[in-house]
Amino acid sequence: MQDSKLKAICPLEDLRAVSYLTRRITLKNQPSSALVFLFEGQPYSYVNHCMHMHRPLNCEQDAVFDETGKRLRCSMHGFIFDPKTGECQSPVCLGQRLQPLRLQAIDGTLYFAEKHLALID
Ligand code: FES
Repeated sequence: MQDSKLKAICPLEDLRAVSYLTRRITLKNQPSSALVFLFEGQPYSYVNHCMHMHRPLNCEQDAVFDETGKRLRCSMHGFIFDPKTGECQSPVCLGQRLQPLRLQAIDGTLYFAEKHLALID
């Protein structure tokens, strides 16, 4: 029997074809959105919520990586984050972190593995 905290996101193969994707979620019953992406071959997910002014990272343009592809960048004011840790590297929010969401890959499918997370669509 499959673990009830697992919520299917997509086949891992689908993530390889895009820079990132978002999923509408609730987290502890609060509506939110999740960023999901592969970085150096590993899947990562964060709540799509910049701590600077509480906007989604892709709010101004359809992108969450900078031109190097090595750092996340909020499209609102350009704050930079480490894709592996979610840690902000811009002075105003230095050291603060995007909220990570646990993932699990099983048989080529990627799942959220968060007890208090539900998919909206
Ligand atoms: S809201 Fe993200 S950098 Fe300002």
